[in-house]
Amino acid sequence: MSLASIKTLTVDLAERSYPIYIGQESYQTSPWAEHIKGKQVVIVTNTTVAPLYLATIKQQLAAYQPLEIILPDGESFKTWETLQLIFDQLLQAHCDRKVTLVALGGGVIGDMVGFAAACYQRGVNFIQVPTTLLSQVDSSVGGKTAINHPLGKNMIGAFYQPQAVIIDTHSLSTLPAKEFSAGLAEVIKYGLIADADFFAWLENNMQALLALDAAACRYAIERSCAIKARIVAADERENGVRATLNLGHTFGHAIETEQGYGAWLHGEAVAAGTVMALQMSYLLGNISAAQRDRGIALFIAARLPVVPPQNMSAATFLQHMALDKKVQDGQIRLVLLAELGQAIVTAEYSAECLQQTLTSDYQALAAAMQQSSGR
Ligand code: NAD
Ligand code: GLY
Repeated sequence: MSLASIKTLTVDLAERSYPIYIGQESYQTSPWAEHIKGKQVVIVTNTTVAPLYLATIKQQLAAYQPLEIILPDGESFKTWETLQLIFDQLLQAHCDRKVTLVALGGGVIGDMVGFAAACYQRGVNFIQVPTTLLSQVDSSVGGKTAINHPLGKNMIGAFYQPQAVIIDTHSLSTLPAKEFSAGLAEVIKYGLIADADFFAWLENNMQALLALDAAACRYAIERSCAIKARIVAADERENGVRATLNLGHTFGHAIETEQGYGAWLHGEAVAAGTVMALQMSYLLGNISAAQRDRGIALFIAARLPVVPPQNMSAATFLQHMALDKKVQDGQIRLVLLAELGQAIVTAEYSAECLQQTLTSDYQALAAAMQQSSGR
């Protein structure tokens, strides 16, 4: 398949199934109209993405004379107040139940606009147009929509599927390197939880990805979306296997919440959190030290943090982890590796093992990895 062509994957959810279009020029070549039912279209984006891509999208949707809503940029704006700004403008413009919202931006925009679509007039259509690597490989697919609460990340939200996901890999060219790395955290996750061969491919192709090699980026996005689509199709509402997509997130969300939303990028917190999950999987005897270290080395190669913040004690972690959405009957269920390429969700671990995980010397583990790779 040439790079110019579009790859179409399907999230198979019966009457709520939808396509994911992936390509280098998919803004221009995707069949937008097939996914727009009414006459009103509203593009919701932010102050950073608007100058980069809004004009192109408006051109594709010119027939609908789309309204635009431009929100402030940042995780700290993933709030009720910002959601209210969206509703204010939809109502002022007399948008009806057939309006289609277009979420143009990263995961913050996608999650928030998806939630707005779920709530506005009890549910309107929306299209995800993810522009960060993280949103292209993860947040735009699967219908998890949310805003943050001061007491917990993504705590207010809904499962609500889009009509389509349109991924134009060109958008990665303007993404800051730190944001690209944050997206790689979720890409690495797929290898760890579901595909040991893909993990090995990432080990061999990390430099190509960081250099934005078009074929490598496209393969990583396609493989990630295919794995996510398969898991979502099997368990849309996270009653089982979907929870494995949260590898590292229970520790990572604790980091994000404690540090203040936006201080650590989501992907950065996931990377450090996943290293903690790898350490715990190692302490439980599920993976070898060498496999744990391969994971740490890959996060380091992706230029991601592998050491949790120094100011977080075990008690602070536990306080945040008690609010995790996977908690059941007061027990913190964790996503760990059963082996490299296969995850489990479990509450079967001792308090001592968790304590040991929270107090392990990650600085020393990272230093050992850096030394062995000659950095
Ligand atoms: P983000 O949306 O904050 O985007 C990162 C930054 O990049 C922002 O400043 C954004 O404006 C900017 N940006 C976006 N596209 C750009 C481009 N092409 N060029 C230049 N700048 C660009 O962050 P993110 O990492 O995309 O998403 C993180 C959010 O996603 C978190 O809120 C997280 O909770 C959520 N998330 C949701 C799911 C889910 O399943 N719904 C999964 C993972 C993460
Ligand atoms: N990002 C985790 C999920 O979609 O379930």
